Amino acid sequence: MMMTNRSDRKASRPGPCAMVIFGAGGDLTRRKLLPALYNLAVERLLPEDFAIVGFARSFDDEEYRNELWQDARTHLKGDVDEKEWDWLRDRFHYVAGNFNNPDAFGRLKKKLAEVDEKHGTGGNYLYYLSTPPRFFGEIPRQLDEVDLARQSQDNWRRLVVEKPFGHDLDSARQLNRELLEVLDESQIYRIDHYLGKETVQNILVFRFANAIFEPIWNRRYIDHVQITVAESVGVGTRGGYYDDAGTLRDMVPNHLFQLLTLSAMEPPISFEADDVRNEKAKIFGAIKPIDPDDVLTYAVRGQYDEGTMPDGEKVPAYRAEPNVPKDSGTETFVALKLLIDNWRWADVPFYLRTGKRLPRRYSEVAIQFKRAPFILFRETPVDQLPTNELVLRIQPDEGINLSFGAKVPGPSVQIGDVGMDFCNADYFDGHPATGYETLLYDCMNGDAGLFQRGDNAEAAWAAVTPVLDVWSALPPRDFPNYAAGSWGPEEAAELLRRDGRRWRRL
Ligand code: BG6
Repeated sequence: MMMTNRSDRKASRPGPCAMVIFGAGGDLTRRKLLPALYNLAVERLLPEDFAIVGFARSFDDEEYRNELWQDARTHLKGDVDEKEWDWLRDRFHYVAGNFNNPDAFGRLKKKLAEVDEKHGTGGNYLYYLSTPPRFFGEIPRQLDEVDLARQSQDNWRRLVVEKPFGHDLDSARQLNRELLEVLDESQIYRIDHYLGKETVQNILVFRFANAIFEPIWNRRYIDHVQITVAESVGVGTRGGYYDDAGTLRDMVPNHLFQLLTLSAMEPPISFEADDVRNEKAKIFGAIKPIDPDDVLTYAVRGQYDEGTMPDGEKVPAYRAEPNVPKDSGTETFVALKLLIDNWRWADVPFYLRTGKRLPRRYSEVAIQFKRAPFILFRETPVDQLPTNELVLRIQPDEGINLSFGAKVPGPSVQIGDVGMDFCNADYFDGHPATGYETLLYDCMNGDAGLFQRGDNAEAAWAAVTPVLDVWSALPPRDFPNYAAGSWGPEEAAELLRRDGRRWRRL
């Protein structure tokens, strides 16, 4: 079986395979998966011998299947190349059935044999679980029952598991156990779509392909790090899921921790999946567990009230969103202070914040350097030196900014805060992308570097467990505590103020 690694390959077509999407009628297929497959087809990065098998109960209805493709098409950016679109559509097959029905899996097996015959997909199957999480253990078990899970020298079987990967540490462990009963770890691709974002991947390249930053990337030079993932949207129609999850579960052990580990980890010895994941594991191992007594000081939760967004739109409170209980205690905002207790980062706080209904959609990692000694400026009108900041902008306007102090022209010494700014868009052509292209392409190539390993997923849950436990034992008393359109509750500002710091103004 061929495995390639991102560092040693030029982008070329993967070998033959069929992709089976479980839950193919859903939103993810329309918004992301089919558009991403189309984008890959246009770039000549899909296998020449390729097929999609959609598996969903609703697929017994032809109109529904047509509507699925029409809908997916509306999510494509730019002009649609009809030839490529038809090429992809012609490779679409389906199985209508329930995820816990053995007969349906028997039919799937038959269908895959036909697909192999028709499209030359060679018995290589990429299974994509885009279903409610309660089926994440069931589907692989059913696949195993009909001998579709085991791989051999001649063909591979890989399973992509969407988030959420568990609801807490225990359920993540349980899910890992269930998956590992029928699959090998190397067959499991736990997805985190943040790793599909170019700018997230760029954190590693920026840090390790440039000799000038790494020597100062440590506690001697860095005062603290701020990681922000701000969203302007509310929970919309996802109230049912969201009220059960909350922002901490929804965003922190996955997306924010990806940004944290990539920013904090030691250089891996290669881009091989396990070399990168071993380094991430060390960071998880070094995160200082938050003492239950400190949770209410180190972790801030918030829930949005009604408010006005910067564009003037009046929006409802979280508790007034569809499928949200009127007295919900679920958080829609989290701010956390974490310490990484290793030689590089001891005493350098990492402040994380994320929330819904904040003023704008914006994500960044901001490295705040220590202040220079002041002595030289004692006799000048300057009363405080600016600190240097290195900001890795993740979205929406991807880029990097380094700020520093410069002399304001004139007879007296005044310091202006200036910046050197790099915008991705100024240098690189953007391909239309959903963020799923690289992830799907990597799976087809057997490169798991951008996916979570089981132990990393568990370690991430372990790091947030003290907060989950204390929060569930002590329900919030002041919700809602921030207005939609503001930067979150006052306690989030207090979290940094207590340490003599403040959040960057975005
Ligand atoms: C998802 C969360 O994983 O990520 C959503 O479930 C969140 O609640 C989304 O809105 C954010 O992703 P992005 O790519 O828009 O930053």
